[in-house]
Amino acid sequence: MKIDFANLQYQHELYKDEIEEALLKVARNCNFIMGEEVDELEQSLEDFTRAKYAISCSSGTDALFLAMMALDIKPRDEVITTPFTFIATAETIALLGATPVFVDIDEKTYNIDPAKIEAAITPKTKAIIPVSLYGQPADIDAIQAIADKYSRTNLHPHKIYTIIDGAQSFGSTYKDKSDSNLGDISCTSFFPAKPLGCYGDGGAVFTNNDELAEKMKSIRVHGQTKRYYHKYIGMGGRLDTIQAAVLNVKLKHYKKDLALRQEVAQKYSVSLSEVYEQKNIIMPAPAPYTTSAWAQYSIRVKNRELLQEKLQNLGIPTAIHYPLPLHLQECFLYLGYKKGDFPISEEVSNEIMSLPMNPYVSDEEIEYIVKSL
Ligand SMILES: Cc1ncc(COP(=O)(O)O)c(C=O)c1O
Repeated sequence: MKIDFANLQYQHELYKDEIEEALLKVARNCNFIMGEEVDELEQSLEDFTRAKYAISCSSGTDALFLAMMALDIKPRDEVITTPFTFIATAETIALLGATPVFVDIDEKTYNIDPAKIEAAITPKTKAIIPVSLYGQPADIDAIQAIADKYSRTNLHPHKIYTIIDGAQSFGSTYKDKSDSNLGDISCTSFFPAKPLGCYGDGGAVFTNNDELAEKMKSIRVHGQTKRYYHKYIGMGGRLDTIQAAVLNVKLKHYKKDLALRQEVAQKYSVSLSEVYEQKNIIMPAPAPYTTSAWAQYSIRVKNRELLQEKLQNLGIPTAIHYPLPLHLQECFLYLGYKKGDFPISEEVSNEIMSLPMNPYVSDEEIEYIVKSL
């Protein structure tokens, strides 16, 4: 058996006629920048998430930039986040000249542990960025309560904003609310391998705040408010019309695709629950107040490298998200963290391994994968 990890090819085959027609339409209309497909997508994203504003942009990384630039995050500000995430979460903080301040994760959800956040708050703290890792939202109510407690009180000189890095979690929910409709601003990515992926780079920011929405729309186009008049230092951060056209088709089918992902995850869990003790595996433990978009189905194993090699030889691709937590990355040595500072992130990054995950993993494949572990 040869199993595909993300199976993008199969998905294209499924939606080929609609997607290719949509792509051709953009080519024929030549409305490559901010064409009508972009407006249509933003409207559909607002309907899907119930956020007041969905603003598409060029990537998940640029979504984080748009959010932080709109909140005036600048040198000497501190932004609290998790070290167990993709580099973009903290890289964007650093690129704005601010300081990433890491807080360890919860052992079960692998998301930032709200109980450890307060100790990391200083007068310089400007924002907290929880990441919805593998598709599952963090405990935002607990995080928001801390941000609110410190905002503009004698405990703290200014508001502490919450920005959700939902790059992996479009379509997930927290207490029945879309992950894109949480925090002051929520960000997502439409990178091809994400649960809702386009055919290149893409992303979006979401907010219910009128002023922040206006500002992010402006920053997305070089900070301009009127053609060639620039109120803010901005960026070229628009989503291509071609990507919007692909997303318009895929979003129409997304509820079904998401349900299939959730089914695949459920089947993995049922199958693994019979063998996990014997095989010394730690299974995902989704929090009861969330539904996950299952960007990844990640388990913890011993002897990971050996196991990966054996699985590869059996036609089962695996991936590691992520092998080295951010506080130990060479680029962040200047922050002064050392091994042992975030023991849970370090332990999980040594053991975590993602199994093939996409809406189309078959029962037979799941059985084969679990048996092969
Ligand atoms: C948690 C997280 N944040 C940010 C990003 C950046 O998204 P993009 O690749 O669309 O720039 C990713 C994408 O891999 C991610 O997983």
